[in-house]
Amino acid sequence: MHALVYHGPGKQAWESVPDPTIVDATDAVVRIDSSTICGTDLHIMKGDTPEVEAGRVLGHEAVGTVVEIGAAVTTIAVGDRVLVSCVSSCGRCRFCKEGHYGICSGGGGWIFGYMIDGLQAEFARVPFADNSLYKVPPALSDEQVLFVADILPTAYEIGVLNGRVVPGDTIAIVGAGPIGLAAIMTAKLHTPGRIIAIDLADSRLDKALEFGADVVINNGNEDAVAKVMELTDGLGVDVAIEAVGVPPTFELCTELIRPGGRVANVGVHGECVTLHLEKLWIRDVMITTGIVDTRTTPMLLKLIEGGRFDPTVFATHHFPLADTVEAYEVFGAAAETGALKVVLQAVPAAPKDGRRHSEAPAVKTPVPA
Ligand SMILES: NC(=O)c1ccc[n+]([C@@H]2O[C@H](COP(=O)([O-])OP(=O)(O)OC[C@H]3O[C@@H](n4cnc5c(N)ncnc54)[C@H](O)[C@@H]3O)[C@@H](O)[C@H]2O)c1
Ligand SMILES: [Zn+2]
Ligand SMILES: [Zn+2]
Repeated sequence: MHALVYHGPGKQAWESVPDPTIVDATDAVVRIDSSTICGTDLHIMKGDTPEVEAGRVLGHEAVGTVVEIGAAVTTIAVGDRVLVSCVSSCGRCRFCKEGHYGICSGGGGWIFGYMIDGLQAEFARVPFADNSLYKVPPALSDEQVLFVADILPTAYEIGVLNGRVVPGDTIAIVGAGPIGLAAIMTAKLHTPGRIIAIDLADSRLDKALEFGADVVINNGNEDAVAKVMELTDGLGVDVAIEAVGVPPTFELCTELIRPGGRVANVGVHGECVTLHLEKLWIRDVMITTGIVDTRTTPMLLKLIEGGRFDPTVFATHHFPLADTVEAYEVFGAAAETGALKVVLQAVPAAPKDGRRHSEAPAVKTPVPA
């Protein structure tokens, strides 16, 4: 089969690799029908995660079709259309039993395209298939469910739920990339009073307004703290969601927060960040961190099935799977290309027995100006 292989910082190729096979009885092999690229993949390509070894197939979000199951798999069958989530669950460890799959200590958690070969590939081996795959409701297209593999549960669980958003809250979302926009989309489930989006890029702030932000602030040319204080009678916001992953944005969240408020950090941080306890200790501020558990995945799928929200708005570009390298270029240059999420598509209706389909469809949306 072919897959996107990481060869060290800045180096990747779409190349021929061995077909994945069943290793453990709890595995499945899935043919990837649709996949996508995450901001975290860009971190890997930059070398920010040195634990990713050269030779690793990248990718941790996909929709596919099961082509093989191990002897111990009982709830998933060959031919099932499934969502392959960014987080796997062993189902047996203490944390999985608490629904805390992100910190699974039994070999699950975030493993695809990180600890094991990932999902920007024609086929993938999926460990713990019974606990980690979600059957896709038949009425839904790949594109409707693909973003439930990562950005939607991440923004909802680590941003909105950790931030304990309740009706009427004023919330600030710092960073309006896919995660920040997914936080806007899912925060609305809790009817906040006002959503303030903060970003350096006007193009992203325009998107934030489309997604339902009430106020946008470009902190490159405006004083975000002063503006938020003006909007909140000098108190600050009830909840601040950090969706960038750099020191200034975390610090900004701790400056925007009202006494007794909640700061929910979602960003993946690669550098040391200062926590200003000398200012915060007296303000009763709660700060949370986390990796997504994906425990809300079934609920999010139900909302999409019920027409409550439409994640296809994230899909700005489409590429054949075989053009994944080009898709990285477009996704990595989001400021110029306007990319939010790219959809990598395999040939539709690949034969179930045949495992090769490198010829991908020639559908591609033009890059917006
Ligand atoms: N905790 C988790 O489980 C988890 C899961 C997935 C992704 N993440 C992380 O979430 C973060 C956001 O992901 P994304 O895909 O939306 O990233 P992204 O890079 O696409 O978007 C980040 C946004 O932040 C803006 N930005 C950059 N610097 C800024 C600054 N100083 N002030 C204000 N805005 C600024 C950018 O313009 C961009 O719009 C990343 O760090 C990613 O790795 C965390
Ligand atoms: Zn991701
Ligand atoms: Zn576990």
